[in-house]
Amino acid sequence: MAVQRVHNFNPGPAVLPESVLQEAGENLLSLGKTGIGIMEHSHRGKDFEAIIQTAEKDCRELLNIPDNYTVLFLQGGATLQFSMVPMNLLGAGQVADYIVTGGWSEKAVKEAKKVGEIHIAADTKDTNHNRIPKPGEIKLSSNPAYVHFTSNNTLFGTEWSGEPTGADGILVCDASSDMMSRPLPIKKYGLIYAGAQKNLGPSGVVLVIMRSDWLSRCSDKLPTYLNYSVHAKEKSLYNTPNTFGIYLMGLVFKWMKQQGGLTAIERNNREKAKMIYDAIDANPNFYKGHAQKDSRSMMNLTFRLPNEELETKFADEAKKAGMIGLKGHRSVGGMRASLYNACPLKSVQTLAEFMKDFAKKNG
Ligand SMILES: Cc1ncc(COP(=O)(O)O)c(C=O)c1O
Repeated sequence: MAVQRVHNFNPGPAVLPESVLQEAGENLLSLGKTGIGIMEHSHRGKDFEAIIQTAEKDCRELLNIPDNYTVLFLQGGATLQFSMVPMNLLGAGQVADYIVTGGWSEKAVKEAKKVGEIHIAADTKDTNHNRIPKPGEIKLSSNPAYVHFTSNNTLFGTEWSGEPTGADGILVCDASSDMMSRPLPIKKYGLIYAGAQKNLGPSGVVLVIMRSDWLSRCSDKLPTYLNYSVHAKEKSLYNTPNTFGIYLMGLVFKWMKQQGGLTAIERNNREKAKMIYDAIDANPNFYKGHAQKDSRSMMNLTFRLPNEELETKFADEAKKAGMIGLKGHRSVGGMRASLYNACPLKSVQTLAEFMKDFAKKNG
């Protein structure tokens, strides 16, 4: 039976590649010829071992991860990383720097403060997080244990175009909403984490990439699950991992390679984002982008209409035209279109046309 899929602009969990969903569907009852569905396979069996090893290999290939970095597939989402990062990496008497650019960075700070001393190196709250701070605004402490930033601000629609300067090698990044949307200079990072449910797969898995020499900073006194070095030693199989999530992530990695890797994916993402920003900029008296132009996100595009009635009408009519997930987060209001890697060009074209049409009829 043919399935009618809508244009999905949800912020996460979000649209996944159709070919991935089809392949996963075929393997629900039997993974290949094993006679055991993918969710029924033991995490200790050779079939799952091959799945997790291939997922790691493809992840390393896509991001060009150097050998002296460890790749982990954990649980607890990005939210648990807000705690695990300081618990493992912020030693007694040390200070960790945080650059605050939105609600998720604020949450990371809240958890880190429970663990140790935090220095806020920059905060863009004064302009309702509509920008990425300029280098001169960022005041790092003299010898930080690490410098934490959020590469893409899912709620506000801003994104770093590169890394903060002055902290190469000790950057810790929450890349939940733009991971693998573009190539990354991994060597600049000490640790990167990303909840899977935007670009990488389903919710319930978090990808962590970290400098292997940092594993020696993880104290044996930590609760076992919260210790990165335990997961590194056990190759993400200390306890029962999210086997289905890791399997699906592996399929998404394979799909990304088929797209031509992260350079090709970035090109597509730029093209898609431009279509929507062009529609905003072509109607400046009707659409107002939230992010300052030099801070615009390729992943989450936030904009307002002249009033809330029109915003409700926009969401309603978009839904009737087969587009869902466009209502913005309450911290900005208005609309948000999430254009992750798997959001098809056709969906973005449909939205851009709809926006032009809507402005003409209601402007
Ligand atoms: C940038 C960012 N960080 C953290 C989170 C929280 O992730 P999780 O729900 O996987 O804990 C989100 C979720 O949307 C996010 O967008």
